[in-house]
Amino acid sequence: MTFPTHRPRRLRESGLLRDLVRETRLSVDDLIYPLFVAEGQGVRDPIATLPGQYRYSVDTLVTECRRAADLGLKAVLLFGIPDDGDKDATGTCAWAADGIVQRAIRAIKEADLPLCVMTDVCLCEYTSHGHCGVVQGQRILNDPSLPLYARQALSHVEAGADLVAPSDMMDGRVGAIRAALDGAGHEHVPIMAYSAKYASAFYGPFRDAAGSAPSFGDRRSHQMDPANGDEALREVALDLEEGADIVMVKPALPYLDIVWRVKQRFGVPVAAYHVSGEYAMIEFAARANAGDRERLVLETLGSIRRAGADLILTYHAPFAAERLGGR
Ligand code: PBG
Repeated sequence: MTFPTHRPRRLRESGLLRDLVRETRLSVDDLIYPLFVAEGQGVRDPIATLPGQYRYSVDTLVTECRRAADLGLKAVLLFGIPDDGDKDATGTCAWAADGIVQRAIRAIKEADLPLCVMTDVCLCEYTSHGHCGVVQGQRILNDPSLPLYARQALSHVEAGADLVAPSDMMDGRVGAIRAALDGAGHEHVPIMAYSAKYASAFYGPFRDAAGSAPSFGDRRSHQMDPANGDEALREVALDLEEGADIVMVKPALPYLDIVWRVKQRFGVPVAAYHVSGEYAMIEFAARANAGDRERLVLETLGSIRRAGADLILTYHAPFAAERLGGR
C-alpha cells in the first residue's frame, strides 16, 4: 500500500496545491507588537542588541503605532522606561497617573488608532534595584508586591489600556489584579497572564533596552526553571482559576513543547512571546548572511503557530505584516 500507490509529493509539486493543503496559517491578526516608550521628545533611540528596534518618546511612539495600524496589526504591548531618577525601591512611578506608560496610552487613544493597547505589568523597569517586586535583603517578597501590581494595572486601565499583561510571576497576582479591576468597575478588561515565564537567557537584549537588569541576584526565585514542563501546566491552571483570559508561554522557540501542551490541555487562547534574544538571533544571523531574513522570520513564526499558539508577541510584527498583507 505504499509507493507507488502513495506519493506524498503529488500535493507538493504545485504552489497552488501547496496553498490548498497548508495546515497552519500566519496572519497579521495573530501578531502583537511590543514597543518601548521613554521620556523625551522626538526620540527614536536604536537598541544595539535589538537591531531595528527603538526606544520611542511618546510622540514618535504614536507615529510607530500609526505605521503598525496601517500595516494591519491589531495590537501593541507597551513597556515603560522611566528616567533613572524616577526609580525607587518600590517602583512608585509605575502607577503614577502621569507616568510614562500612562501618557503613552492616552496619546495612542487620542490618535484614535484601531489598535488594542496592551500593557506589561511588572515593577522591574521601575525599581531602583531592577527586581520585579518588593525586596527585603536578598529576597523578593511575594504578598507585599501584589497590591503594587494591582495599582499599576488599574492605573494603566484608567489611562485607557484595553488589556493588562502581568509578567512578574509572583503567586496570586492575576487574582489580585482581577479583584482590583473589578472593584473599580473594569470587569470587562481582560488579563493576558505571562503564566509560564521561564528564567531565560533569551531576555538579555530586553534588559539592555529597558535598563531592567537586576542589580544583584537573578529572577530564578519567581520565574520558572527551564527544565520543567509539568509545572508550567500547574502555573497555567492557577492563572485560569484566578481569572486569566489569555495565557502566555515565554520564551517561544525553546518552549514549543510547552505551547503545545498548554493548548492541548486547556484549549484556551494561548499566546507565545518570541522574545528579544530570539529576535536578535535571527537579526544577527541575517546580517551575517547566514540565512534569509524573510524566510527565517516566517518559518519561525509559523512554527510557533503550528505548536498551538493563537497569538505571537514579536518584534518582527511589522516586518511580518509587510509580507503577510493586512486587513
Ligand atoms: C518583565 C519582562 C521581561 C520581558 C518582558 N517582560 C524581562 C524579564 O523578565 O527580565 C522580556 C521580553 C523580551 O526579552 O523580549 N517586565
